[in-house]
Amino acid sequence: MGKDVMVALDFPSGEEALRFLDLFQKEERKPYVKVGMELFYSEGPEIVRKIKKRGHSIFLDLKLHDIPNTVKGGMRSLRDLGVDMTNLHASGGIEMMREGMEGLSGEGQGERPLLIAVTQLTSTDQRTLEEELLIREEMKKVVLHYGENAKKAGLDGVVCSPWEAKEIHEKLGKDFLTITPGVRFKGGSVGDQKRVMSPEEAKEAGSDYIVMGRPITKAENPVEAYREAVRQFCDYSEKKLGNRIGGKDE
Ligand code: C5P
Repeated sequence: MGKDVMVALDFPSGEEALRFLDLFQKEERKPYVKVGMELFYSEGPEIVRKIKKRGHSIFLDLKLHDIPNTVKGGMRSLRDLGVDMTNLHASGGIEMMREGMEGLSGEGQGERPLLIAVTQLTSTDQRTLEEELLIREEMKKVVLHYGENAKKAGLDGVVCSPWEAKEIHEKLGKDFLTITPGVRFKGGSVGDQKRVMSPEEAKEAGSDYIVMGRPITKAENPVEAYREAVRQFCDYSEKKLGNRIGGKDE
């Protein structure tokens, strides 16, 4: 399970997202994509159906957080939509996470989507944690504790920095998935991400899925940038990669 590159489709409209995906039309295997709230709230569930129809796997990053029963219902709807992975906030508590999992696990078509927990947002720093949220503990301890709760609730993994992937696997097991944004090509622009790793380094650190947005979506040649990320992160030999992506250079 895992070891794939996810492309974050951070586009304001479905039209722009689909135009970007057109670039990958000739690729034998379509990139796994992450659809976030910007695109989902502007376009609705239809955008997910359209992207699925083109053969992409989808991580629907909506970060649910509500009372357990509501999260369960929300997850049931996402399951019916046919996404491959989705997420919720671990801060909603163990019961909320369990109910969310139950919503995803009900009768439906195909396999259950993977359910991933957000521990603490990377925009939350130690000061916010202590002064605004009144959580007087070290960020690292909070992140690991929320990860443990997610595991207790039966979730499949957490979103975290590639810098935390190793410790999470050590504490919560190698099968507990780590989905890691904050990935940049060496020498590329870091943008607003603070602690970055290259795809190669993230693989070394044990990340299961890397999420890359701008280094691919804003690249001069997005298909080539995606291929480079796959070459560095996934266990495909050049030959296999050639087969996988049609063996042609764009
Ligand atoms: O463009 P970039 O590669 O920075 O995009 C990273 C993606 O991962 C964005 O969609 C961002 O919202 C998401 N993300 C993140 N850090 C987190 C959680 C999600 O960068 N902690």
